Amino acid sequence: MLTNKFWPLLDHPNDIAEADYLSLVTVPFPASTSTFLNSKLPLPLMTLYMVGIGLNDEKDITLKGLEAVKKCSKVFLESYTSKLQCDVAALEKLYGKKIILADRELVEKQAEQILEPAKTGDVAFLVIGDVFSATTHTDLRMRAEKAGVDVEIINNCSVLNSVGITGLELYKFGKTTSIPFPEKGFEPETPYDVIKDNLGIGLHTLCLLDLRPDENKFMTVNDAITYLLIIEEKKGGGILTNRTMMIACARLGSKDQKIVYGKAKDLMKIDFGNPPFCLIIPGKLHFMEEDALNKIKK
Ligand SMILES: C[S@@+](CC[C@H](N)C(=O)[O-])C[C@H]1O[C@@H](n2cnc3c(N)ncnc32)[C@H](O)[C@@H]1O
Repeated sequence: MLTNKFWPLLDHPNDIAEADYLSLVTVPFPASTSTFLNSKLPLPLMTLYMVGIGLNDEKDITLKGLEAVKKCSKVFLESYTSKLQCDVAALEKLYGKKIILADRELVEKQAEQILEPAKTGDVAFLVIGDVFSATTHTDLRMRAEKAGVDVEIINNCSVLNSVGITGLELYKFGKTTSIPFPEKGFEPETPYDVIKDNLGIGLHTLCLLDLRPDENKFMTVNDAITYLLIIEEKKGGGILTNRTMMIACARLGSKDQKIVYGKAKDLMKIDFGNPPFCLIIPGKLHFMEEDALNKIKK
């Protein structure tokens, strides 16, 4: 059976001479290295490993992820959608690799800088948390596949499932929303609308809080609650007050994670320490969920 990894152009027979294509489809697999070297066929492209490295520090990578990173000639770290509790040097030390920080511009507009090296050597693209959770890197994956680069995904945990530690059932979360930094003329009401819709059917809402790690700017729990209460005042939907019970989480997955269940006005007074933060508006609670929340109640 021929695979895309070794015969990347198999899906694109027009790209090679018909004679070569015919010989290609009749070469038995596994083919020896000399078969590659003696044939006129293109050399195999390498693998782009898209690796989730977990939420907290260098030790959260999976064994599978670490093995993949160790064999890569280039290692990129997507650096704009979340924040670890360790610095890049700690990752470099454990992985034994130099890490190149990939900002939004590089990933979204200059992806060839990641894909070109993946044509001649294995490349790792590291994502904090999980690769396809909250931020999807589907675009990069599809571009790589289109370029004939083999892609291997190595998953990890995400903020989307780590909130299970609060005691809320993950099955009972509705749509997730993001609260953005407000700017003049840009104060979307979507987060409020999502919470309203979720509450309408008894579901919990996970609110992700905006961040700009390159500017060391992170939305706090206080900012997020203020944002929601301002929209409540504007829209008057009657779903949130400063007495609404919410759950605020900081640094999930770390030893010093902080998770507090309390009234909005009380959560706003707490110093949650270092980012990242998220906020949960619970929906209808099962008594088990209520018991668990009471243990972290302020
Ligand atoms: C775009 S999501 C990150 C998605 C990431 N790929 C994942 O799977 O977790 C980033 C947002 O998730 C939340 N977040 C991420 N990690 C967190 C953590 N350890 N504790 C609390 N919130 C976190 C923050 O609101 C942050 O702004």
